[in-house]
Amino acid sequence: MSGRITLFYGAVINPQTLRSYDAHPRCLLAVGPDGNISWLVEDVAPHDLQQVLLQYGCSDEHLVELKDGEFLLPGFVDTHTHAPQVPNIGTGQQYELLDWLANVTFPTEAKFADVAFAKRVYQQVVRGFVDAGTTTCCYYATLHLDASKVLADTVHAQGQRGFIGKCNMNHDCPSYYSEPSPEESISATHSIISYIRSLPGASSIHAAAGTPQPLVQPILTPRFAISCTAPLLKGLGEIAASDPSLLIQTHISENPSEVKYTNGLFPDAGSYAGVYDSFGLLREGTILAHAVHLSPPEVDLIKERNAGISHCPTSNFNLRSGVAPVGKFLDKGIKVGLGTDVSGGFSVSILSEVQHASMASKVLQFTNAATITTPSKAEDSKFENKQLPIPTLLYLATLGGASLCRMEKHIGSFAPGKSFDALVVSPSGKQIGMWGSGEKIRSTEKESESPTEKRDLDEWLERFLFCGDDRNVDRVYVQGRWIGGRSFTGF
Ligand code: GUN
Ligand code: FE
Repeated sequence: MSGRITLFYGAVINPQTLRSYDAHPRCLLAVGPDGNISWLVEDVAPHDLQQVLLQYGCSDEHLVELKDGEFLLPGFVDTHTHAPQVPNIGTGQQYELLDWLANVTFPTEAKFADVAFAKRVYQQVVRGFVDAGTTTCCYYATLHLDASKVLADTVHAQGQRGFIGKCNMNHDCPSYYSEPSPEESISATHSIISYIRSLPGASSIHAAAGTPQPLVQPILTPRFAISCTAPLLKGLGEIAASDPSLLIQTHISENPSEVKYTNGLFPDAGSYAGVYDSFGLLREGTILAHAVHLSPPEVDLIKERNAGISHCPTSNFNLRSGVAPVGKFLDKGIKVGLGTDVSGGFSVSILSEVQHASMASKVLQFTNAATITTPSKAEDSKFENKQLPIPTLLYLATLGGASLCRMEKHIGSFAPGKSFDALVVSPSGKQIGMWGSGEKIRSTEKESESPTEKRDLDEWLERFLFCGDDRNVDRVYVQGRWIGGRSFTGF
């Protein structure tokens, strides 16, 4: 897309807040040569199109006209997943967390000592996440420095936006898959950070407000408290303190046995959240995956530190971890995004998380029904123990995730100056239950001839979120560059 403006004309769905999104049936959106959105006009009637193009000094030479039933959506943000666990996806579902790690996860992750294996697998893994519509992904790699570099290279080569973390783990892991000392773990962490920061073009892409936003960035990744000794957590806290811009990702309070074990290992910390806090690892830009069994003071502490929570409902159901009280977090003003947590979760698609986040919220609603009184106006505005509405689910999948990565000014919605990280969603997969296009499924002839309205877009969005899959992700753009999707044929 170098040197020119690309224009998109058609339906656009644009998340705004936890409670709302905009839906524009006839939007004209311009993407500049830098991959940022130059301008957008929310409603342009077909007979006004040439006139508007003229006003902006553009021709229709690079105009992408979306077909009936297609719409633009900001790309998904996956705030927690494990690239090296994709080979295990869909297996080991008989286990809960700690047995699953020992029997399924660690043996597979250990194979990434082989760099050639890592190259082969990560190639397919990143392609899978991109084609599922994930434009920004927070990836755990393994403990291996070289294989972590391979993951960073692969994300970089495929043009995805990603945060890549080499796992820190030197305690209570099998001898074949453990780091030998805190010093070596810290040293490898410094190495991966400088490696990622020196990838080609790392500082050449400029987003809004002139802040350099390299597509691939490092993220500190203490696996979880159990797998790190106090000296290792201390060393990581020192790296975090010296570099306030660095994101941190870890697991918290996923499973009751894990919580009990953690509290036993760190009795002075007071709580699981207290462990990370005592080492300076709980702060803005910390992404905490799961948060199923937190105590009220831990929730308050997370809010106070302005850390974010990655809700991983597919994994939470699959490993029988529990149901995270996301509505409660939202009521408290805690930042929440969605995470696939492969292979605790069995899908690389954020759509799976949207669907299971909805189910999880319904479980909380009906299991807590006895405590729900007739809602007053004030209670209406609360999320706790209620079904999450569609705008909220969409927000968590996009802008909410972006805010966990401190990227909400750059991605997660469409606005002039923001990066064009987007999906062209299309019903052309022809699955049962899909919306419109070609073979129209609007109920009457009259309806099928009438122009698309906002309420049609509401329906398309809901059907995509609940019945869609990668067959409906026709094109995937990151920073204005077409990098994947069903119609992608390569760079
Ligand atoms: N806790 C520590 N490691 C892991 C992991 O790989 N997956 C999940 N779901 N939880 C963890
Ligand atoms: Fe995880």
